[in-house]
Amino acid sequence: MAENNPYPGENNTGHFWDDDSLRELDNPPPKWWMIALWASVAWFVLYTILYPSWPMPWLEGDGDKFTKGILGWTSIEEYKEGMEEVKAVRSKFDEQIADMSPEQILQDPGLTQYTLASAKVLFGDYCAACHGSGGKGNPGYPVLADDDWLWGGTLAKINETITNGRKGNMVAHANLLTEQEVDTLAKFAVELNQGDKGSDEAWALYNSKGCSGCHGPTANGVIAELPGGNVITVGAANLIDRIWRFKPGGYESAKHTILYGVNQDGVEQTRNAIMPGFAQLGQLDGKLTPDQIKILTVYVHELGGGK
Ligand code: HEC
Ligand code: HEC
Repeated sequence: MAENNPYPGENNTGHFWDDDSLRELDNPPPKWWMIALWASVAWFVLYTILYPSWPMPWLEGDGDKFTKGILGWTSIEEYKEGMEEVKAVRSKFDEQIADMSPEQILQDPGLTQYTLASAKVLFGDYCAACHGSGGKGNPGYPVLADDDWLWGGTLAKINETITNGRKGNMVAHANLLTEQEVDTLAKFAVELNQGDKGSDEAWALYNSKGCSGCHGPTANGVIAELPGGNVITVGAANLIDRIWRFKPGGYESAKHTILYGVNQDGVEQTRNAIMPGFAQLGQLDGKLTPDQIKILTVYVHELGGGK
């Protein structure tokens, strides 16, 4: 602070530094700044009158402990209104879908898109635990994102699968075949899986031991093909598609399946392969409505490339 003000004519505050060359002036702030200041004060006052704002923790009771604002606005109400709007849009789609068959849904690109988006969420909640996200499969569970089907990939078959569930059945052959025969058939399964034709001897064994009764005459898992893309199957694996249903696949894996079968009660090492029926499940276990099953049918069908 300087003793004598060296700049008496100036509106300084009398605070000087740096050999009096640096000094504090007492200029009023610029007008725009003052306007902005008072505008924000006004905004603040108005806001606290209109909207919920001041906390009032000293209030008695369990209710809201803050000023409510004279507009009566609450974020929860706004959220609810938003949800009502979404629901209104959704219910329009949902009502349409309820009256349509999966085939009809697929003919409407907009509805198909809506269906696939809703079904994706359902699939994540109810199916992905076993089938993997997007149906990519998990060890022990079939891949749904391909056009290789155990039970048939038409809309009707997929709907049937999800509604009623599926339980493949293959006899345990440990007591029905000699070691030599099991070896021949396991090697045969590996050959077929690699795209080889398999020897006549192995085919003869395959036919005479009843394998063809379930896996079909060409071993593609289909007993008979019907017009219109429908097939008759008992859910037996396709042995010539280069896909191993049971991991890790290969000789030992095939031998294991042949020896102990699939879903055989009382056979300890049997393969377990049960698809739950989602219309039959209890409410708490994840029962699905026919409409939910319908949109999942469309979704799974499209995952498989629509085949
Ligand atoms: C507890 C595990 C589990 C859950 C959950 C599950 N699945 Fe499955 N799913 C299976 C098994 C195991 C199979 C194979 C059955 C067989 O081997 O015969 C299967 C088979 C299928 C098939 C037949 C595949 C084919 O190749 O023919 C479809 C379609 C299917 N599941 C769809 C679904 C959908 C959609 C959901 C959800 C609503 C779902 N699954 C939930 C275990 C499950
Ligand atoms: C009663 C019907 C039935 C008979 C008979 C049958 N299978 Fe199967 N087989 C199935 C079913 C069902 C599956 C499992 C499909 C599923 O659940 O995914 C299967 C699976 C397999 C697998 C596993 C394929 C893989 O990709 O992992 C092999 C290998 C196999 N069978 C070979 C045979 C041979 C060899 C015979 C004859 C000795 C035979 N099966 C007889 C129904 C049958």
